[in-house]
Amino acid sequence: MSDFEHASIVLCPAGPMLLRGEHEIQDADGKTHRTVRPVSAVCMCGGSAIKPWCDGTHRLIAAKARGDDETDG
Ligand code: FES
Repeated sequence: MSDFEHASIVLCPAGPMLLRGEHEIQDADGKTHRTVRPVSAVCMCGGSAIKPWCDGTHRLIAAKARGDDETDG
């Protein structure tokens, strides 16, 4: 049993990494980004236009891989 109330990092299958609370992350260029929101989503698919943060593009990538013509979320 853990002493933590909940995980501060959650990996979403085929989606982002969710960070709870304050964190500092470093992008591929070495730039540090500080989280200020209660929950922040870090792009793990590489497709986001607002890296290092997730913009939902992972859903489009998954839909395209499935062969869907349209996505609804
Ligand atoms: S994980 Fe969401 S856009 Fe990459």
